[in-house]
Amino acid sequence: MKVCIVGFGSVGQGVARVMEMKKDELQKEYGLDLELVAALDRSGAAINPEGLDIKQLLVTKKLTGKVSEYPEYGEEGVSGLEVLMDKVEYHCLIEVTPTNIEDGEPALSHILKAMKDGKDVVTSNKGPLALKFKEIAQAARDNGVQFKYEASVGGAMPIINFAHENLSASKIESIYGILNGTTNYILSRMVKEGSSYEQTLNEAQAMGIAETDPTQDVEGEDAACKVVILANSILKMDVTYDDVEVTGISQITPESIALAKKEGYLIKLIGEVSPESLEVSPRLVKEGSPFAVEGTLNVATLKTDLADDVTVVGKGAGSIETASAILSDLISIWKTK
Ligand SMILES: NC(=O)c1ccc[n+]([C@@H]2O[C@H](COP(=O)([O-])OP(=O)(O)OC[C@H]3O[C@@H](n4cnc5c(N)ncnc54)[C@H](OP(=O)(O)O)[C@@H]3O)[C@@H](O)[C@H]2O)c1
Repeated sequence: MKVCIVGFGSVGQGVARVMEMKKDELQKEYGLDLELVAALDRSGAAINPEGLDIKQLLVTKKLTGKVSEYPEYGEEGVSGLEVLMDKVEYHCLIEVTPTNIEDGEPALSHILKAMKDGKDVVTSNKGPLALKFKEIAQAARDNGVQFKYEASVGGAMPIINFAHENLSASKIESIYGILNGTTNYILSRMVKEGSSYEQTLNEAQAMGIAETDPTQDVEGEDAACKVVILANSILKMDVTYDDVEVTGISQITPESIALAKKEGYLIKLIGEVSPESLEVSPRLVKEGSPFAVEGTLNVATLKTDLADDVTVVGKGAGSIETASAILSDLISIWKTK
């Protein structure tokens, strides 16, 4: 199966790495021969219809910062749409450019273009899903292609495919959980250290856990995108980003954390998905409950009619962790071929 990776940052490189790491196992276990025929970043592309040498591609990106510097097959200045248009034959697009919650671009155009051309799509990008879920799902149906996006919510924490497959006999009535690792890290450290929000955020930024511009995480926007994706894909609602009520964690003080702790509670940024409520806000959770997870972990409880409550937990981010979810999506697409 020939794949294109559009976006070659943390997740894109992770996907390339796991393709290389698991090459023999994929072949042996599933008869799946994954071939990377194009990789793109902002500099342009590396394109080889016979397959790129992944080790060489990763070294080129590390040394020069540009995939377009890939020897012989590098092309500077070429865009994602140009490559997907007619530059290379491929079966599946892996869309891992940055999340944009203004208009979903450039990912939205990449995804719709690939689908129109009859290609399957796997993505970790929340932007297009939070803004245009219905349109994308319809495009996938109209063009008879598969669309998988497990990595867009909770990174390696299984939730979307888990709900669709393992919980398929049950109706999922609501989902409640910690859907953002950065804020969970900050709040966990504030409990442990008694430190201020600003101080803890600075520390998280120095460690590379929080972005230089942390707005999407700390103001709850990232978690709100995930609430929308879960609402549409699992609860079969028809909602978009503007339907979510969002409050972030920037106003949380060490005093409020200490007060909660005295009463046996922790403050966590919780995403709630139900037909009555779409909300991201700081809430009290009981110490010792499944929601008392620390660090960058994500956790979610799915309330169902038959299976009662089912709780999943896992790493919400990370290059290889997120790539693991993308690879699982690729395998599941391959199994239906
Ligand atoms: N990181 C995680 O753990 C994680 C977990 C779950 C979901 N996600 C989602 O996965 C996606 C990728 O995340 P990331 O952490 O890998 O981001 P990242 O490290 O910022 O990488 C983004 C990549 O996209 C490239 N890019 C930007 N604009 C482009 C364009 N117009 N055409 C082609 N390439 C373009 C960038 O190019 P340059 O290299 O030239 O800058 C970079 O290689 C995001 O949507 C994110 O929300 C990430």
